[in-house]
Amino acid sequence: MTTAALIVAAGRGERAGGDVPKQWRPLAGKRVIDHTLDRFRAAAAVDRIAIVLSGADRPHWQDLEDSDLVLAIGGTDRAASVRNGLAALNGMAPDRVLIHDAARPCVPVALIDAVAAALGTYQAAAPGLPVTDALWAGTDGTVTGTRDRSGLYAAQTPQGFHYDAIVAAHAAYEGPAADDVEVARAAGLRVAIVPGAADNLKITAPGDFVRAERILGMPMDIRTGTGFDVHRFGDGDHVTLCGVAIPHDRGLQGHSDADVGMHAVTDAIYGALAQGDIGRHFPPSDPQWKGADSAVFLRHAAGLARASGYRVSNIDCTLICERPKIGPHAAAMQARMADIMDLEPDRVSVKATTSERLGFTGRGEGIAAQAVATLVRP
Ligand code: CTP
Ligand code: MG
Repeated sequence: MTTAALIVAAGRGERAGGDVPKQWRPLAGKRVIDHTLDRFRAAAAVDRIAIVLSGADRPHWQDLEDSDLVLAIGGTDRAASVRNGLAALNGMAPDRVLIHDAARPCVPVALIDAVAAALGTYQAAAPGLPVTDALWAGTDGTVTGTRDRSGLYAAQTPQGFHYDAIVAAHAAYEGPAADDVEVARAAGLRVAIVPGAADNLKITAPGDFVRAERILGMPMDIRTGTGFDVHRFGDGDHVTLCGVAIPHDRGLQGHSDADVGMHAVTDAIYGALAQGDIGRHFPPSDPQWKGADSAVFLRHAAGLARASGYRVSNIDCTLICERPKIGPHAAAMQARMADIMDLEPDRVSVKATTSERLGFTGRGEGIAAQAVATLVRP
């Protein structure tokens, strides 16, 4: 008796976003599809694996052409892709087939084997999770009713079938189908429910990648960066510190607005990301940054953190100067930098110290700032 796995991977992944369809995106060290294939390779019940791919993705799947996989080209909807995959398996005439979404890379190997085992008793079997949340009906963002959840299941894959039975069911089926169980039931097949797994999530929305990585055992990543900056006093009537202009009898010299505090904070974020410093992203040799509002730099660093999957957990910045007095402005500085980074104000701290009239800050030659940033990838 032979059992084939049929993995459908020809979708466009519109809801997940990104530059390439979700099955080709990296996840915990390899592509989503590689996780899915590895799970099926590890399942004792599976003898052969077929995969359904989109012609548009050919550059991504060249490596799979040289493997032991049976390849098929997808159709316009999932059901069409499944039919193409079933046809590609016709030559080996498997007794059973387990049809699975490539977008479920965390499927437990034990679940694959459990579905296959249930096919010893039933013509069809698929994993389902009893619905545990209360169910509502709603219109325009308002609850219009509640529904009884008893007897309801959330459907998962792999969905297993006797091969000849599902081929015949698909041949007879017309119209859209939520999954292969719907097709099988339309043909009169009895489908056993195997207990599903909470970890068997289908990557659908952008945030699902982080959830999948957590399931796959990617540990939470916490990073710390430090920043330090100095600007010299010169002529002027104000200084800009942490985004707030403070009247003063001197100004700070620099290529941009010389916001020494915001520069230290920005460099701390770049440091945590191992992404160099402000000078690397905004070269002082480039005239477009002359007199620039340093908010541009901080916004860029915070955006880079977000794009890399991190959130800024907290910032602590210390300004070192005798004058001007920072205390009366610290709350405004905190609010301004929190706003630029799109953070809650209580994640941003601004404080100050003198250097007891010692050194260049003590002599009033300039202002120094240091900052620490902690970034967390959940
Ligand atoms: N699939 C497929 N062929 C299609 C449509 C979907 O092989 N024409 C596959 C997807 O690659 C995915 C699985 O069916 O592994 C489940 O579909 P879904 O999660 O909806 O993925 P996509 O259709 O790619 O995503 P979206 O609906 O967000 O575009
Ligand atoms: Mg889809």
